[in-house]
Amino acid sequence: MDVSLAVVGATGAVGELIRRVLEEQGFTPSTIKFLASAKSVGKTVTFRGKEYPVELLRPEAFDGVQIVLSSTPAGVSKEYAPIAVRAGAIVVDNSSAWRMDPDCPLVVPEVNPEELHHARKGIVANPNCVAIPLAVALKPLADLSPLRRIVVATYQSSSGKGATGLIDFAAQLTAYAAGTPVPKPTAHRAQLAGNVITLDWTLDDNGYTEEENKVVHETRKILGRPDLGVSATCVRVPVKVAHCEAVNVEFARPIGVEEAKAALAKAPGVVLMDETKGEFPQPIHAAGTDHTYVGRVRLDPSNPNALNLWIVADNLRKGAATNAVQCAAELVRRGIVKPR
Ligand SMILES: NC(=O)c1ccc[n+]([C@@H]2O[C@H](COP(=O)([O-])OP(=O)(O)OC[C@H]3O[C@@H](n4cnc5c(N)ncnc54)[C@H](OP(=O)(O)O)[C@@H]3O)[C@@H](O)[C@H]2O)c1
Repeated sequence: MDVSLAVVGATGAVGELIRRVLEEQGFTPSTIKFLASAKSVGKTVTFRGKEYPVELLRPEAFDGVQIVLSSTPAGVSKEYAPIAVRAGAIVVDNSSAWRMDPDCPLVVPEVNPEELHHARKGIVANPNCVAIPLAVALKPLADLSPLRRIVVATYQSSSGKGATGLIDFAAQLTAYAAGTPVPKPTAHRAQLAGNVITLDWTLDDNGYTEEENKVVHETRKILGRPDLGVSATCVRVPVKVAHCEAVNVEFARPIGVEEAKAALAKAPGVVLMDETKGEFPQPIHAAGTDHTYVGRVRLDPSNPNALNLWIVADNLRKGAATNAVQCAAELVRRGIVKPR
C-alpha cells in the first residue's frame, strides 16, 4: 500500500510488534519512519530487511506522513496526535488518550469498521487489549440476540505493562525459580512471580481500577450500546503474553450452546476451540497469533438467558498492534487515506 507511515513509540512492546505485523501483512509503505523518545535516538530498527534510525518524536517528524501508528503513554499522545493531524496525517492511537472522546471512533475492524469514516478529529482510537477480544467474541452473539449484561473477570499477562513489565517479571521469575529472594517489583505493583495481583492499575474514585473502568466504557462504545450493563474485575497473572477473560453474558432470549458455537465458528477473527476434542484456549497458544480464541461455551445454570465462555488473545497483537495495522489497512481500503 503506497502510503507514507510513521510508527511512534517504535521501541516499545507494542511499537516493535507494529513493525513486525506491517511486515507480515505485506504493507509496502511509500516511506516509513520510526519515532521514539530522546533515550532511543541512536538506536536502529529493521523493517523489510532495511535498517532505519530511530528518530526523535518532534513536530517536524510528521511532514509528509499520511498515517501515524502511535503507541506511547497517553500524555505523549495527547500532545503529539493533534500535531500530527495538523501536519496532514490521520492517527491510529493505541493509548487511552482519545478512546472516550466522542469525536474519535473506537474501532475493532471485525465489529465496527464503518466508524472509521467518523474520525472528526483525525484520530482513530485503538481500544484496550481486553475490550478488543471481548468485542470480537461477543459481536456474533449480539447479532443473534441483543446483549443484556456482561460480567467479565480477566487474567492479564505481564506484557500489558509494556516492555518494563516484561523486564520486571523476568527478573522476578529467575529469582523465584531459583528459590532466591525475589527482587522488589519495578513495573508491576506487587510481586508477580508465583502470585496474582488485583490492583496492578490505578484505583479510580468509584473503587474500580482504571483498567476495569476502561473495559466497561470501551466495550459499550465499540458495541454501540451506551446503556449496556458491564461489570469487570481485572487481575494480573504470572504469564508473559496473552490475556484471558472469563465471561458471563446475558441475552434478551435464551441462546443454546450449539447456536452460539455455530455463530462463533464463522465469525471473523474468532477461532472456536472444541472442548469435546480436549481443546481449550490457552495463553501459550494465543501468544504470537492474531486470533481471538473462544472455548468453554456453557449454559449458565443460574440464568436461562446467559452463557459462560472463555476468551484468550495476544494483548500485544490483536489487543494492540494487529488491530491498529488492520485499522490502517481499512483506512486505505475505504479510500479515507489515498495512496500517492
Ligand atoms: N502492552 C499492551 O498490552 C498494550 C495494549 C494496548 C494498548 N497499549 C497502550 O499502548 C501504549 C504503548 O504501550 P507499550 O506497552 O508498548 O509501552 P512501552 O513498551 O513502555 O513503550 C512505550 C513507547 O513510547 C515511547 N515513549 C515514551 N515516552 C515518550 C516521549 N516522551 N516521546 C516519545 N516517545 C516516547 C517509548 O520510547 P523510548 O523507548 O524511547 O522511551 C516507547 O517506544 C500505551 O499507551 C499502552 O497503554 C498497550
